[in-house]
Amino acid sequence: MLKGRFPADKFKEIPTPFYYYDLDMLRETLDVATKEAGRYDYRVHYAVKANANPRILSVIAGRGLGADCVSGGEIRAAVEAGFNPRNIVFAGVGKADWEIELGLDKGIACFNVESVAELEVINEIASRKGKTAPVALRINPDIDAHTHAKITTGRKENKFGINLEQLDSALDSIARLHSARLTGIHYHLGSQITDLTAFQSLVIRSNEIQDELEARLGLSLENVNFGGGLGIDYYHPNHLPVAAFESYFAVVHKLLKRREGQQIHFEPGRSIVGQCGTLISKVLYVKEGVTRRFAVLDAGFTELIRPAMYDAYHRIENITADGDAELYDVVGPICESSDVFGRDVELNKVRRGDLLALRSAGAYGEVMASQYNCRRLPASYFSDTI
Ligand code: LLP
Repeated sequence: MLKGRFPADKFKEIPTPFYYYDLDMLRETLDVATKEAGRYDYRVHYAVKANANPRILSVIAGRGLGADCVSGGEIRAAVEAGFNPRNIVFAGVGKADWEIELGLDKGIACFNVESVAELEVINEIASRKGKTAPVALRINPDIDAHTHAKITTGRKENKFGINLEQLDSALDSIARLHSARLTGIHYHLGSQITDLTAFQSLVIRSNEIQDELEARLGLSLENVNFGGGLGIDYYHPNHLPVAAFESYFAVVHKLLKRREGQQIHFEPGRSIVGQCGTLISKVLYVKEGVTRRFAVLDAGFTELIRPAMYDAYHRIENITADGDAELYDVVGPICESSDVFGRDVELNKVRRGDLLALRSAGAYGEVMASQYNCRRLPASYFSDTI
C-alpha cells in the first residue's frame, strides 16, 4: 500500500472512532532508528508512555530495544510485551514505594532519580530487600528546547530532575547510601524538538558536567542517557514519515566526549511511533454555522487530546471523498469548546458518513484517551490483520 493511503473500504466495516496502525511504517522507522544508533553503538530505550498498545510494544520489543518506563504499570506492560527487564530504565518525579519495589524485584537496569528525597527512599527499600539499586541522577540541565511550554522539561523552573546547584548534595547522599549505586547520569530536555541545536547544547553541557563529576568522584560514569525528545513532521507525514535519526545521532556523536567503555542511551517515544498511527473518525454532521462551517466528528479530545491540550497540529484528510476542497472547522462531540481538531481545515467536500483520518497520532494518542462523558475507549486495528 502506498504511504498515506488507507484501506477506506475495509474501514467502512469497522465501528468508529478507532486507531489504525501501519506496522510497515513502524518497522521502517525502527529499521532507521536502530541502524543509525547502531553506527555508534548507542542504546535505544523506547519511551513506553508514547504508546503502550501491547501489539506496538511487542513489535518494538522484538527488535531488541530497551524500554523507558515512568510507572509500575508501564514496567509491567513492557515486561509482558517481551522487553528484557535488564534493558528497562525507570524515570519519573513521583515513584511510589510499590513501583520502586517492582523495579527492584524485576531487576531493571536503572532508576533515573529525580531528587535527594527519592534517592533516600530507593536506598531504604533496596536495603530492606537486601539489594543494591542501580541509580542514575536525572540532571536538569537548564536548557531551552524551543518547544511547547507544556512539553518542556529541562528548564530550572520545571519540576524535573536535580538542578545543577543541588548536584553536590545529591552526590554527598549517594556517597553515604549503601544500597544505591551510581551508574550514570540522565537528562531529558522536552518533547517534539525539531531544532537539533538544543541537543547540541545538551551534549556540550553534559561533557562539562561529566568532567566535573569525574574530577570530584574520581570515577568515570558507566552510562550517559540523553532522554528522548526528537520531533516528527506533523505537516508532511507522507513525504517525511521517518524522523531525523541520522542527523540526531550524528550531532551527538560529533560533540560527545565519550569515555572508554561508556554506554550512551536514548529514550525516543514520539519519533518511533508517531507516524504509524492514525485516528479514524466518522463525520456525524456537517453543520453550517453563521460564520463557520463545522464538520462534527464522532471522535473528540477523549480519543486525541493533543490539539486541545497543546494546541497541536494534526493533518486531517477526508479519505472517502474526492470532491473539491472546502474549509471546515473540524470538531468533536465533547461538551467543551476546546474540543476542536483544527480550524479552517481544507478537506475534500465533506458529507455525513465520510471517514476522516487524523494523521501522525501514533504517539500520545490512544495512550492518552479518556472516558470523559462516559465514552468508550477507542479500539485499535493493525495493517496486517485488518
Ligand atoms: N524520556 C523522558 C524522561 C520523558 O519524560 C519523555 C517524554 C520521553 C523520554 C519521550 O519523549 P519523546 O521522544 O516522545 O519526545 N503528551 C505530550 C508529550 C509528553 C512527553 C513526556 N515525556 C504530547 O502529546 O506532545
